[in-house]
Amino acid sequence: MLEEKYYPDRKLAKDARIRNMCEYRELMEWAKEDYEGFWDHWAKEKIEWISPYSKVLDESDAPFYKWFIDGKLNVTQQCIDRHIEIRKNKAAIIFEGDRGDKQIITYLELYRNVNRMANLLRNEFGVQKGDRVVLYMPMIPEAAYAMLACARLGAIHSVVFGGFSAEALRDRIEDAGAKVVITADGAFRKGKPYMLKPVVDEALKNGCESVEKVLVVQRNFADIAWIGARDYSYNELVVSQPDECEAETMDSEDPLFLLYTSGSTGKPKGVQHSQAGYILWAQMTMEWVFDLKENDTFWCTADIGWITGHTYIVYGPLAAGATTVMFEGVPTYPDAGRAWKMVEEYRINQFYTAPTAIRVLHKLGESEPQKYNLSSLRVLGTVGEPIDPPAWKWYYESVGGGRCSIVDTWWQTETGGHMISPLPGATPIKPACATFPLPGIMAEVIEPDGSPVKSGEQGLLCITRPWPSMIRTIWGDPERFAKSYFSDAVKDGRAVYFSGDGAVVDDEGYITITGRVDDVINVSGHRMGTAEIESAIKKHPHVAEVAVVGKPDELKGESIFAYIVLKDTESGLGEEVELNREINDVIAGEIGNIAKADSIVVVPGLPKTRSGKVMRRILRAIAKKEPITQDISTLEDPSIVGKIENALKCSGC
Ligand code: WTA
Repeated sequence: MLEEKYYPDRKLAKDARIRNMCEYRELMEWAKEDYEGFWDHWAKEKIEWISPYSKVLDESDAPFYKWFIDGKLNVTQQCIDRHIEIRKNKAAIIFEGDRGDKQIITYLELYRNVNRMANLLRNEFGVQKGDRVVLYMPMIPEAAYAMLACARLGAIHSVVFGGFSAEALRDRIEDAGAKVVITADGAFRKGKPYMLKPVVDEALKNGCESVEKVLVVQRNFADIAWIGARDYSYNELVVSQPDECEAETMDSEDPLFLLYTSGSTGKPKGVQHSQAGYILWAQMTMEWVFDLKENDTFWCTADIGWITGHTYIVYGPLAAGATTVMFEGVPTYPDAGRAWKMVEEYRINQFYTAPTAIRVLHKLGESEPQKYNLSSLRVLGTVGEPIDPPAWKWYYESVGGGRCSIVDTWWQTETGGHMISPLPGATPIKPACATFPLPGIMAEVIEPDGSPVKSGEQGLLCITRPWPSMIRTIWGDPERFAKSYFSDAVKDGRAVYFSGDGAVVDDEGYITITGRVDDVINVSGHRMGTAEIESAIKKHPHVAEVAVVGKPDELKGESIFAYIVLKDTESGLGEEVELNREINDVIAGEIGNIAKADSIVVVPGLPKTRSGKVMRRILRAIAKKEPITQDISTLEDPSIVGKIENALKCSGC
């Protein structure tokens, strides 16, 4: 199938770090022929080592791969110290608050602020190498300082997205065994203050015995409870801290951070990342995929609570010595021109966001970009979910003026950085297609036995060789790590990493991601496990059984659709609105508002096989109002399908 291709702008290509497909192929060939030599070259060129590594890759304990064995470094030296000489007065972070307040933090100021925060954690709270510190923070510069302060001390941070509930926060604190929690009183969103500290208080009410201290950044100065000997004000303590703090010497493989993410089963997984491999790839992808130049200003709209915020707001841009923009608010407040106004004001060169945001901005303000001068933009990025061609075209034409390359970057919390993406100066782009694996990344679409899929057919998206920024393990559960990622596909006799995504390759080798093939739903680019939402809903006293599936949604990509069987089928009927509200309240309490269901339907039963397995494919088809094509004769009660369809009709879903 021949599709329209978009070629990189000539000028952009001429000045790019990777200028054409020949250069791309040369890099890829190099990696294929001499995998370790390829990575050895970049690790030596890019990383400032305290002492060198003795071996590039150790595969002896697969899938627990190790990179840059015995190497010593500190990630904050890579991100800050080494820039001080030449970039001391360069803006490291440009912060814009929800209400328009602004702050520019130079590399020298960043150095001092991170050191002060590190000294505070070390001197006042006794934080040491290997301790876990949970961050429950708004999008303010102190969140970046806190992450980097942990890295300076060798403490392992675990950022929990500010939209998670007290219950979800508690689970993550307990799983990590955190010693300290760093939070803020609250912050501002859409012109109004909102609160975070009360959620921490609630989370710490039961359990969480490991937590000794809570550090509170005062951002909105709202009234909050202070618990003596536990809660301390950052604003008060930080002023007396020295602005020099020795960086801990870390091993390449020491954990840098944990980030909890959803899988298809059970509780969230604490994805553990390493020091050297992670920072290397964060910096390299920053440079290659965004074609970063010395004077560029880069803006990623993600929240630091997700991997995108870790790698492309904090670690990647700072390692590369860039200027990174951090924004507290939402791009639609006070109007749908907010983001474009910021692009104009800060002369942003690379803008990186999620397809959901693009769809919303398109819907609310189709011609809004034309009101601003967006000529500084060179590269536009998307991440988190498949982007649809209409949104892609609007992004390309109205935001990018037909001049910018769009990098549709496919990657995951587990991969640490981009895996499949166009290179802005090289790749002829097909709309809504992630295109090719990056140099050095052996991403392949295969069958479970490792054979390549036929062109146009869906297969498993796998990474068939270990890569430096890969997940090292699931915190506290190495068995689950091996089972979750290395048990679905084998190539050349070796278990390979399976992403959980399906993909299609066309005749020219272009890879298009088709979405998750496991029970993970992607709502507005946020990953959620159906099992997690189901176990939340089961806490409602009237619910006997529940099955959750994703339903395609015009704006959010997918929305949550819950089928509920009540304990007493009489109760609840006729009070559906009330029941829906109650169920969503339970979800908000257990997980957070982001996991609320858009559709909740009470059904007489679920479609189960004779062995009791719920056939989700049938439920997905019913939610989409598609005809049921699969064989339902194997169901314990085939008539249930018609009954569920009727229940949907009655409820108007
Ligand atoms: C999905 C976010 C299509 C995919 C960085 C993946 C994408 C999950 C893309 C990871 C893309 C990410 N096109 N789908 N460009 N990028 N995804 O861990 O299903 O929050 O497995 O990491 O998002 O989500 P996560």
